Amino acid sequence: MTLRAIVRGVGHYLPDRIVPNSEFEATLDTTDEWIKTRSGIECRHFAAPDEFTSDLGTKAAQAALDMAGLSANDIDAVIVATSTPDMTFPSAATMIQEKLGMERGFAFDVQAVCAGFVFALANANGMIMSGQANRVLVIGAETFSRILDMTDRGTCVLFGDGAGAVILEGQDTDADRGILGVDLNSDGRYRDMLYVDGGMTSGQTGFIKMQGNALFRQAVEKLASTADAALLKAGKTHEDVDWIVPHQANIRIIQGTAKKLGVSMDKVVVTVQDHGNTSAASIPLALSIGVQRGQIKPGDLLVAEAIGGGLAWGAVVLRW
Ligand code: UT7
Repeated sequence: MTLRAIVRGVGHYLPDRIVPNSEFEATLDTTDEWIKTRSGIECRHFAAPDEFTSDLGTKAAQAALDMAGLSANDIDAVIVATSTPDMTFPSAATMIQEKLGMERGFAFDVQAVCAGFVFALANANGMIMSGQANRVLVIGAETFSRILDMTDRGTCVLFGDGAGAVILEGQDTDADRGILGVDLNSDGRYRDMLYVDGGMTSGQTGFIKMQGNALFRQAVEKLASTADAALLKAGKTHEDVDWIVPHQANIRIIQGTAKKLGVSMDKVVVTVQDHGNTSAASIPLALSIGVQRGQIKPGDLLVAEAIGGGLAWGAVVLRW
C-alpha cells in the first residue's frame, strides 16, 4: 500500500457579469476579431464591485465540499493560490476558512501567479505525504480585473476573474491513483516579462505589465518541458495521457504545447474562450468544467501545466 493524495471533490465559481470582447471595442483600438484570433478569448467574467477573491474562492470551495459530501470542519488545511488577495494580509485562505465556518486546521496563501495552483497542489501533496494534513482544500481564486489597466490593449483584453477548488485526501492504496508526479521551476531573471507595478515599492495596488510576445515564446518551450519532466517522475509517457489541463492564457500557447508534447487537441480541456486568463484559478476552473462537461472521468490520467510571472512554471501528473 502506498499513501497517495487523491481527489475527493472539485468545484468552481464565476462572477455573474460576463464581458464580451465587443465591450472593449468602444474604448480601445481593438476588435473582437483580433482578440479571438490572437488569444482564443471570446469573453470573460468580472467580479462585482463588492465581490473579492475570498468571496469567489469560498463559493468554489463550497461546491467542492458539496461534491465530496464533506463539511468545512472535515478539512485539515486550506491552501489558496492567488496574486489578488482581498488585502495585503491576512491571507485570502484565512478569510475563506472563516467564511466556510471552519474552526480548525490551518490556512495560507501561495503566490506563484498563473502557476500558483500547480505550486499549491504540490504543497498539498507534500503535506499529505509528510502527515501534516490529511484532507487539503486547494483553491485557485483571482480578481485580476482589479489590476488591469483598462487603457492598455495589450493586457486588459486577456484576463478575467474566477475561482476553482479541489479537495485532496490522503489514502493508502494499491491503485495507481492521485498525484503521481510534480515538477516545479522558477527563474527570477525573467521577472520583467510579467509583473504588477504596485505593492510596497509604489504604495499602490498597481497594474499588470507584460511583454506578451517574449512571454509567448518562453511559455510553449517551458510548458512542454515541465510536462515532460512531471510525466517522467510519474513513470508515464505521452501515450498514457488522457487529458492535458493547461493554464488557459492563449489558445495558441495551448495548441503549441500540445503539439510539442505530441498530444492531439481532442485530449486538451479548453476553457479560454469563456473565461480568458484567470491566472491561478484557470487550472481548477478547467478541471471542474472538464468534469461537468463529462470530459474528465475517474481513472483518467491528467497533466496540469502552467506558467506565469516570476517566471514560475510547473506541472502535476495525477490520475483522477
Ligand atoms: O498567464 C501568464 C502567461 N501569459 C501568457 O503566456 C501570455 C503570452 N502572450 C500572448 O498571449 C500573446 O503574446 C498576446 C495575445 C499578448 C499578443 O499576441 P501576439 O501575437 O504575440 O501579438 P504581438 O504582441 O506581437 O502584437 C502584434 C500587434 C502589435 O502591433 P504592431 O506592433 O505589430 O503594430 C500590437 O500593438 O498587435 C497589437 N495589439 C493589438 N491590436 C489590437 C496588441 N494588443 C492588441 C489588441 N487589439 N488588444
